[in-house]
Amino acid sequence: MSAEENNFKKVVSHAKEYGFVFQSSEIYDGLQAVYDYGQNGVELKNNIKKYWWMAMVQMHENIVGVDSAIFMHPTTWKASGHVDAFNDPLIDNKDSKKRYRADHLIENLVAKYEAKIEKDINKAKKKFADDFDEAQFRETNPNVKRNQSKIDEINAAFKTCLDNDDLEAMKQLILDLKIVCPISGTSNWTDVKQFNLMFSTEMGSVASDANTIYLRPETAQGIFVNYLNVQKTGRMKLPFGIAQIGKAFRNEIVARQFIFRMREFEQMEMQFFVKPGTQKEWYEYWKTLRMKWHKALGMGDNNYQYHDHLKPAHYADAAADIEFRFPFGFKELEGIHSRTNFDLSKHEEFSNKKLRYHDSETNENYVPYVVETSVGLDRMFLSVLSNAYTEEKLEDGSERVVLRIPPALAPIKLAVFPLTKKDGLPEVAKEIMAELKFDYNCLYEEKDAIGRRYRRMDAIGTPFCITVDHQSLEDKTVTIRYRDSMKQERIAIEELSSKLDQETNMKNLLKQLNA
Ligand code: GAP
Repeated sequence: MSAEENNFKKVVSHAKEYGFVFQSSEIYDGLQAVYDYGQNGVELKNNIKKYWWMAMVQMHENIVGVDSAIFMHPTTWKASGHVDAFNDPLIDNKDSKKRYRADHLIENLVAKYEAKIEKDINKAKKKFADDFDEAQFRETNPNVKRNQSKIDEINAAFKTCLDNDDLEAMKQLILDLKIVCPISGTSNWTDVKQFNLMFSTEMGSVASDANTIYLRPETAQGIFVNYLNVQKTGRMKLPFGIAQIGKAFRNEIVARQFIFRMREFEQMEMQFFVKPGTQKEWYEYWKTLRMKWHKALGMGDNNYQYHDHLKPAHYADAAADIEFRFPFGFKELEGIHSRTNFDLSKHEEFSNKKLRYHDSETNENYVPYVVETSVGLDRMFLSVLSNAYTEEKLEDGSERVVLRIPPALAPIKLAVFPLTKKDGLPEVAKEIMAELKFDYNCLYEEKDAIGRRYRRMDAIGTPFCITVDHQSLEDKTVTIRYRDSMKQERIAIEELSSKLDQETNMKNLLKQLNA
């Protein structure tokens, strides 16, 4: 097992041990690719939602939110193209009987060559320090050039398969590239087949085709079908956006990476309606702003990269992913799509209702174009959790596991400890709790030695712990201990609230977006 795989395993078991993520219906041995969030997980998840909602809705006068139903009229999915085209190419290995996404097999090979290039670049960076010129190195280093031309070759062949929807050619490419099943080690592959990812169910008590409905595979369609309702009732003028956070469901072919690829997950999506012809500039605008939103969390700028799609989804004329360096490599975290007027035009056609915008400046009626930003809440959660997980060796030889979660997202902001259970210390600690709990998630603990209490808080990412001791009774101060540095200092009880505000308020993150 590689160091990264081992580290990822530790993150997964830590998530369970400390109440972040549990397997769904675990007492029945679980349900594949479905997970529940525990007492700390739900807090982290809510904070991520809040950060997104504030950045998108509260900070933009021209973006409003909705909360649409999961069940929608079945024609929605015919119109959107999901019934006919929301497919993934699947392939089975006949020896191991394992199922894979054919496109992922090819993309993973490309990622291997990219990782080789990155390794060479990092080595050279260390060697040449300030004199290192990455662009020049990429152009001249023979290893990098060879690997890059291999990537270009694979991508070109892969794009031809995608453009022509040619599944036979995709299988041939897998064979030509000598891609083998990681379990059996053989290339004894079946043909590539398309597999529709939507879950269907029946509505009402009579089972017939007419009653077949789908669990939504994206939240976006709930926004499109409400476009005119919101535009008219909110008197919205182009450009404007509609945002939504909610569940989506996909019958994923392969679901093996914890909460990275789930069958039931949550999306945070925003559709930005623009005048036709301006979509390119808004697409670039949202690509840049969404990257800023991620980087503001301070989880390392070099952990993010853009990935432009070779073949955008059936509804888009341009698409890029923001990728994050997960423990298993750079993978998609968010998608930015220029969706043209595809969805609204299709809903016009299938519903026979006009979904036009009246432009009072030009006196024209037209179907707006749309730029979409779509980030998976669970993937955001995994990016925060995996980035935060740190094992440290301390000066005294002991070890600790600490979750360095950005303080604004931490499930618990402050732990309050009385040094002992007597002498009136618990009473003072509870008074502090009673005051601060209106604004912050606080946790009171009086069991065990202080050191053990600190470790438990480190393990769930609590940025601050305070200890009420005998001195507190005399001068109304407490010891504050910082999670990351483990530094301790005395602070007046009355200053605690402003200290917490300064260190954990989301405002600090949001202000960076305006910079
Ligand atoms: N409305 C556009 C849309 O749904 P997408 O690229 O298919 O686009 C958007 O999905 C985001 O949703 C992805 O970037 C990812 O973060 C998240 N996502 C997609 N499928 C997922 C899954 N099976 N499990 C968890 N998150 C998923």
